[in-house]
Amino acid sequence: MTIILDGRETAKKITEKLRLEVEKLDVKPTLAVIIIGCNPASKVYVKNKEKKALEIGFNSIVIELDENITKDELEKIIKELNEDKNVNGILLQLPLPKHLNEKDFLDLIDPKKDVDGFSSYNSGKLLKNDSPYAIPCTPKGIIRLLDEYNIDIEGRVSTVIGRSNIVGKPVSILLLNRNSTVIMTHTKTKNLEHFTKSADILICAAGKKEMIKKEMIKENAVIIDVGITRDIDGRLKGDVDFDNTKDKASYITPVPGGIGPMTIAMLMENTYELYKIQKGIK
Ligand code: GUN
Repeated sequence: MTIILDGRETAKKITEKLRLEVEKLDVKPTLAVIIIGCNPASKVYVKNKEKKALEIGFNSIVIELDENITKDELEKIIKELNEDKNVNGILLQLPLPKHLNEKDFLDLIDPKKDVDGFSSYNSGKLLKNDSPYAIPCTPKGIIRLLDEYNIDIEGRVSTVIGRSNIVGKPVSILLLNRNSTVIMTHTKTKNLEHFTKSADILICAAGKKEMIKKEMIKENAVIIDVGITRDIDGRLKGDVDFDNTKDKASYITPVPGGIGPMTIAMLMENTYELYKIQKGIK
């Protein structure tokens, strides 16, 4: 029988626990989110992040900036947030407008306030399996969901589709750090099906609607779907054809209600963990 990995319920347990911890604090953690321009998907993501932060009892700052902001202006804002003792976590919503180079700004964020774990410092620490201050939220949420359902990682073959800095690369490293045998695939991979069929755990982060069909997966595979595409009828779809594959999988995440809520829960957890590091709380 196939088990649906309930990200919504798991995320709720994590955020409820955080809410109870935050209730006991005199000074509440503060998450600052910078959003540039008016990318509709980014706007929805940022709204959801703010809503969850406020529900938990965090302070939330959302800085909305014009599409045409200059490099110097953005640099100044990030530096001010780094210096601000009341701000514990800084998130720069991606993608940035074309004239701004992502990595220049991600590396300006103080690693101790880098809630996404995207700075070179934290990515390097992750690569070395050496305690980064924060681990990227979606990859961390994937591993947490697997752990929550006691799904073995060690020694199993994990195939990752997609090599983005946000999901594909960091989740591959996390799986490797947990002694999985990791296969990284991407748009230039030839014979993708060969690698997806080898997977005990298949992580799909390609952003291609319902590309994974039952012929492409192994019997009893664990299927994690990170993709979110809006259908013409407005419904959200993943990279995996859920109805077509679910009976062949042992575990599968739904879209929506799988990795999405886990990502937000991990962002909240990272904010609280950075707060504790900054306050010297164990
Ligand atoms: N854009 C899409 N996903 C993310 C994320 O996890 N963090 C940031 N900063 N931007 C994103």
